[in-house]
Amino acid sequence: PVVYVLNGPNLNLLGKRQPEIYGAQTLGDVEELCRSTAARLGLTAECRQSNAEHELIDWIQEAREKAAAIVINPAAYSHTSVAILDALNACDFPVIEVHISNIHKREEFRQHSYVSSRANAVIAGCGVQGYELALTHAAALVRAG
Ligand code: DQA
Repeated sequence: PVVYVLNGPNLNLLGKRQPEIYGAQTLGDVEELCRSTAARLGLTAECRQSNAEHELIDWIQEAREKAAAIVINPAAYSHTSVAILDALNACDFPVIEVHISNIHKREEFRQHSYVSSRANAVIAGCGVQGYELALTHAAALVRAG
């Protein structure tokens, strides 16, 4: 089974952007972690990052045809995008939401995520290990059918 791992805006700057919040690992490191974790779980991770809302929506729609689950860090679009929520609501497989930082102990505007109303599970504050945890849970949900 294929799991789409989608990363939203500014996550291409991981490792350079506010490392005190988001850590030192790059997007390349995170994608490698996702691919190796997925392989260990008998999954294939298809990793994509975009700064554009429409591109993330197109990939979520593509996942309806090709994926068994989505792991998504919608980044700032978590807090703003009804369109990404609607795209995820059109998917009938597991969706796991990841935030590297603990959004609940940050600014007020980060504490609501539209995506959380669809997500099967939400992981926040575990750093990039959150992606590994998300894939582990996605594998369990895919296995459970
Ligand atoms: C983030 C948290 C968001 O509030 C922020 O806009 C991001 C990254 C995280 O991974 O902690 O870009 O999703």
